[in-house]
Amino acid sequence: MIKACIFDLDGVIVDTARYHYLAWQRLAKELGITFSLEDNERLKGVSRMRSLEIILEIGGKTMDEKSKEQLAAKKNQWFVDYVNAMKPEEIYPGVKKLLNHLRTMGLKVALASSSKNAKTVIKLIDIENEFDAIVDGTMTTRTKPDPEVFLLAASRLGLVPSDCVVFEDAEAGVEAALNAGMKCVGVGSPKQLGKANMIIPRTGDFPIEKLNSL
Ligand code: BG6
Ligand code: MG
Repeated sequence: MIKACIFDLDGVIVDTARYHYLAWQRLAKELGITFSLEDNERLKGVSRMRSLEIILEIGGKTMDEKSKEQLAAKKNQWFVDYVNAMKPEEIYPGVKKLLNHLRTMGLKVALASSSKNAKTVIKLIDIENEFDAIVDGTMTTRTKPDPEVFLLAASRLGLVPSDCVVFEDAEAGVEAALNAGMKCVGVGSPKQLGKANMIIPRTGDFPIEKLNSL
């Protein structure tokens, strides 16, 4: 019996994955690196620093730690500028209804994001009070596909992994959920999320009646 749903944030609850992409693309352009939407799939779900390292690998460049810190900070400032201009209506359709529905069924709901900006984002879209537990990139040391973020969310809820279902839009996130010993609903395309137990095009489309047969 499933007792909790754990949600990734960027690309699952709100379209901030697009802002991460725009900011990374701008940085890649400055560095003279061609960075495609397909390349961007590798960045989804992974930490800021690991994302930068992947872009540098794509461009065949190496850099010292200090320069990497400066570039990551620059990208983050652009991302934060996009996010601050965001409207609460940018939350994906049906997400608030789904969160409410799960809670009225007596399930716990948690947020588990790699982002250090997660709390800012959920405040801006006015859902900061909708979660029984929140785990973000400021509380973890290992990036997805490591299961740390999901295991921490389950433990904050007082539950074991097999009680939990994760909602994820990233290949690394689906792997992290499965590595945690949890079920996973992939949100997006089967091309990236093929390992998930179920794939839906949008979070709001989740058929709640299937929760216990994943
Ligand atoms: C994840 C995103 O949620 O957070 C990644 O999918 C992002 O694209 C990562 O790099 C870290 O985010 P932040 O806000 O800490 O740079
Ligand atoms: Mg995501």
